[in-house]
Amino acid sequence: MNIILLGAPGAGKGTQASKIAEKYNLLHISTGDIFRANIKGGTPIGKVAKSYIDAGKLVPDEVTCDIVKDRLSKDDIQNGYMLDGFPRNVFQATELDKFAKIDLCVNIDVDLNLLQDRICGRRVCACGESYHVSTLNGATTCAKCGGELYQRADDNAETVKARLDTYQNQTAPLIEYYSKQGKLINIVCGTKTPNEVFELIAAELDKY
Ligand code: AP5
Repeated sequence: MNIILLGAPGAGKGTQASKIAEKYNLLHISTGDIFRANIKGGTPIGKVAKSYIDAGKLVPDEVTCDIVKDRLSKDDIQNGYMLDGFPRNVFQATELDKFAKIDLCVNIDVDLNLLQDRICGRRVCACGESYHVSTLNGATTCAKCGGELYQRADDNAETVKARLDTYQNQTAPLIEYYSKQGKLINIVCGTKTPNEVFELIAAELDKY
């Protein structure tokens, strides 16, 4: 099973991706994580990506599509994978259809008004775990691996506003794109907890 996780910044794609990967043994491929690893490593891709990410804009399609195409050419995708953060516009989705077979697109639908607080309050660990300050009770280390928690450089109010605008203008049209293909699963989250959201997603994936 090859799936796409779609949703606005802060909708909970990363949070749900860890749970889905564990339960369904799917490889988790996050373009945001790939770019952040490149930025940390000071690679040429990282240098290009940084200015776009800091501004809340999309990294150019040719860079992003090449990265995903290359990643999906590796042998370890055979048991299925989950794309988190790709595609992010109709051009990327059209390109993806040329080199991959996608079975389902899970859209995590959250009221955009909730997202500024969620993202600005997020603390992350290098192991991939993500937390919100409101539930950390002052802890500064990861409950899973003990690593130091930190705030992503693009998780500030100004960049978040630009990221949400980018989402509305460029990414939201993908809901209709995958609906027309008959592949869309829409998960309406309201104020449900991460575990409740996961139960809704799992109920749909289990049917498949
Ligand atoms: P990326 O890393 O993909 O970031 P994003 O899409 O903005 O999404 P986030 O990682 O911010 O949020 P999330 O949905 O994973 O939420 P999370 O689970 O952490 O991309 C970063 C940048 O890279 C982009 O802006 C762009 O520049 C570039 N990029 C990436 N892919 C690209 C592409 N394809 N093309 C071009 N450029 C690309 O949750 C957020 C917070 O909420 C956490 O604190 C969490 O604990 C909390 N939370 C989660 N679920 C719940 C819940 N149900 N209730 C309450 N709190 C919750």
